[in-house]
Amino acid sequence: MRRPIFAANWKMHKNRREAAAYVRELLPRVADSDGVEIVLAPPFTALEAVAAALAGSAVALAAQNVHPAASGAFTGEIAPGMLADLGCRFAIVGHSERRALFGETDAFVSSKVAALLEAGLRPIVCIGETLEQRDAGRTFEVLETQITGSLADLPSDRAGELVLAYEPVWAIGTGRSATPGMAQEAHAYIRGRLTADFGEAGAGIQIQYGGSVKPENAAALMAQPDIDGALVGGAGLEAESFSKIIHFEAQEGSS
Ligand code: PGA
Repeated sequence: MRRPIFAANWKMHKNRREAAAYVRELLPRVADSDGVEIVLAPPFTALEAVAAALAGSAVALAAQNVHPAASGAFTGEIAPGMLADLGCRFAIVGHSERRALFGETDAFVSSKVAALLEAGLRPIVCIGETLEQRDAGRTFEVLETQITGSLADLPSDRAGELVLAYEPVWAIGTGRSATPGMAQEAHAYIRGRLTADFGEAGAGIQIQYGGSVKPENAAALMAQPDIDGALVGGAGLEAESFSKIIHFEAQEGSS
């Protein structure tokens, strides 16, 4: 049985004060959410403030990125052990913004996956096709390439620690979510691939959907058999809307 996992990716938003205020607002709202995993991914600069505000709660801390080396001359980068030291239990890798804006390749993502596991953190690995790729009928081919490349260094006995996030690039930050049917089709394909590669551990990997998840569409997405939670950007910036997504509650009066 896969536990649903909801992660808020704050991207480049919130200072320490705003971050701590969010956590104070979120925790009472999710106190009854025993059956799900909840993850917050603030910017690096707010990790320590969020860790302090989360102390004693079951909500987990994540980084939005990591460098694969343990230490060294990598100006501006952060090592997995430094994130573990701050209390991070997860790190997002391969987000489409990093792939598109910062030139990250599947091979680089794969080295991050291995380094995170080595340091005791769980990777949230993002994959997803662009609109051009979908329109050209290449969605599965793109997902196949990203899965193979981004997980090339994953030790098969650690596959169960992974989280995968299917995030169609055209749905991120656009307000245009994939329909539940489209998302399920991609998730089923990904599930098949992970099961073929990693057997039972692969079948048990949690697969999040990401891309314009909101309180209004969360329930229909989460009802799909292969969708195990969400990676939430915009709607994860407010504790109220993120907690509604966690509870699959549609906002009153919305369509
Ligand atoms: P969005 O972002 O929810 O704002 O579409 C999702 C993401 O980038 O992970």
